[in-house]
Amino acid sequence: MPRGFFITLEGLDGSGKTTQIKRLAAWMQKRNFDPVLTRQPGGTATGDRIRGLLLDSSASPVSPMTEMALMFADRAQAIAEVIEPALASGRVVLCDRFTDSTEAYQGGGRELGSEPVLELHRLLCGDLKPDLTLLLLPSLENSLDRARRRNDRQTAQGGKNEGRFEQEQDAFFRRVWLKYREIAAREPSRVVLIEGNLGIDEVHEQIVEAVSERLVTVGQES
Ligand code: TYD
Repeated sequence: MPRGFFITLEGLDGSGKTTQIKRLAAWMQKRNFDPVLTRQPGGTATGDRIRGLLLDSSASPVSPMTEMALMFADRAQAIAEVIEPALASGRVVLCDRFTDSTEAYQGGGRELGSEPVLELHRLLCGDLKPDLTLLLLPSLENSLDRARRRNDRQTAQGGKNEGRFEQEQDAFFRRVWLKYREIAAREPSRVVLIEGNLGIDEVHEQIVEAVSERLVTVGQES
């Protein structure tokens, strides 16, 4: 059984990842790929509980180190329970955020640096690398506006406020944004950077182009 193909989507809050991942999944399904969709934090029963701890902004705050450790606890479980079994059975995995998020948010945003993140990734995640990472990086101003609007909407609807990260200051997001750019420059063959304030259709086209270049044979037999 040939190994599957591991695709991650990355970007700042409000970059439109969720819309794009759904469209990409639909595009794949039409072509007889049956992708496994997952997200981080979350995606397993254990991970959903960790997600609650991490994102509920009414809960007591966790320290940056705890935050990083919980992100990796979530990820190790997702790899064991969802990602590795799917790849081993030849499936395409579409994952909304992965270790680049930890490097950008905890390494950059929280200023823990890249080194501990990459080290924990080696120790806890077997250094599993995505085959392709789609990084959506509209301008910083644009991303911040969208994230704030989304958070306000969720709060107004009386839903659970998963706004811990959205409530961060602009300086935090600037560091996240810069770290993402650094990752893209460091690993250009893995990371496809989709920049600028593009419309939903334009971003989808760029994603499809990047995916179809690489996804020629995987999963065709299923
Ligand atoms: P989510 O609601 O999934 O946001 P989005 O739709 O923008 O992906 O929330 C995930 C939040 O968690 C997001 O603000 C980024 C943050 N995060 C980290 O700080 N580190 C990580 O390793 C991961 C996976 C997410």
